[in-house]
Amino acid sequence: MRLMGRDAIAIVPAAPVRKRNNDVDYAYRQDSDFHYLTGFGEPEAVAVLIPGREQAEYILFVRDRDPARETWDGRRAGPAGARRLYGAHDAFPITDIDEILPGLMENRAKVFYAMGMYPEFDQRVVGWVNGLRTQARNGRHPPQEFVALDQVLHELRLFKSRTELGLMREAARIGALAHVRAMRFCRPGRMEYELMAELVHEFRRHGADTSYYPIVGSGANSCILHYNENDQPLRDGEVVLIDAGCEYEYYASDITRTFPVSGRFSREQRAVYEVVHEANLAAIAKVRPGSHWNEPHEAAVRVITHGLVRLGLLKGRPAKLERDGAYRRFFMHRTGHWLGMDVHDVGDYKVGEAWRVLEPGMVLTIEPGIYIPRGARGVPKRFQGIGVRIEDDVVVTKSGAEVLTDGVPKDPDLIEALMAAPHVNGVRALATRTRGKARRSQRAQA
Ligand code: GLY
Ligand code: MN
Ligand code: MN
Repeated sequence: MRLMGRDAIAIVPAAPVRKRNNDVDYAYRQDSDFHYLTGFGEPEAVAVLIPGREQAEYILFVRDRDPARETWDGRRAGPAGARRLYGAHDAFPITDIDEILPGLMENRAKVFYAMGMYPEFDQRVVGWVNGLRTQARNGRHPPQEFVALDQVLHELRLFKSRTELGLMREAARIGALAHVRAMRFCRPGRMEYELMAELVHEFRRHGADTSYYPIVGSGANSCILHYNENDQPLRDGEVVLIDAGCEYEYYASDITRTFPVSGRFSREQRAVYEVVHEANLAAIAKVRPGSHWNEPHEAAVRVITHGLVRLGLLKGRPAKLERDGAYRRFFMHRTGHWLGMDVHDVGDYKVGEAWRVLEPGMVLTIEPGIYIPRGARGVPKRFQGIGVRIEDDVVVTKSGAEVLTDGVPKDPDLIEALMAAPHVNGVRALATRTRGKARRSQRAQA
């Protein structure tokens, strides 16, 4: 409200219920902006912020209590609950909004509103303003200006509070447990959807749910970025790429791991994997205050380009291949995105023409990959059908970075150790078992 100023009003609608088919709705998920401001989880609600208004600055319109409806559809807080449980200064039944809201908009010059998000609600907002305009002759003062609420709100959402970081740590912890569970469960002959079931089981048993539809792609499917059929058998000698995260108390994790179905990387799989692993570590090393948004990506591109040359998949001088974007044939997406309540979270990546500078409290993913599809021209067969991505969730801290997703191994030796000894608990215990090997691979990386 301080950012909006005193001549303004903000109108924020709850997400609508969406129909899936006939009498069945999609599981309801509150709009992220609405949740951020209110914590109120019901549909058919509108939050109104009126900075400096004496009687009430924060008003909620909500569904009225209705014992008959609540028997069918579940409990409602009602206006009294909106005040008592959610801290609204005042609250009214949503059915009264046409009568009350225009009066609240009067004498406010600016309306902060996210136009275009919910077209049906846009019509109502425009209707309220037009209603006031037609009554201007009667001395009523309609608002003069619409302002994009996102500008203000999404800048706030970009910086996570301590409480939000706590929730994101938990989302990442549960997500990592799910990936460990899938690695343990994996063996040739099982199905991609069985791995997905393991992931979902782990999410749900911790009170979380998927933050997006899980990608479980084995063999050539690992090279399809948004693969989601998840219906193929897991074959000996192939890798499986799992991109799956959970949503916990509205905050998302987004994790990718790639591992061999058999528990042992082939020579080519490991060679590709090690390049992506090195790119992941190099990009994370660039996450710190003062880096700009693109620095992790540039670091990943450099490592991947050099790696592709080393593997013989690109030919030429690395510096030139980098400049020309030759790596895009095998690494065709960016290295990450903001992460928060939305998996691809809100917040600008550029300020004007310049990449945004990283600051403490921002959370992003680091997810380089190499994808070598079947039939790739000029590529030896033994490299074909290998897709590798390693995705972590990272917080920018005062001194550098905090990796939220290190509960699931990404070092290839640790992954093999986990799959060979599925009963061993915890990354640290695995590291002890592979200490000699891990030290050797660290030296190699240095
Ligand atoms: N799972 C979506 C992404 O990695 O961006
Ligand atoms: Mn992902
Ligand atoms: Mn991602």
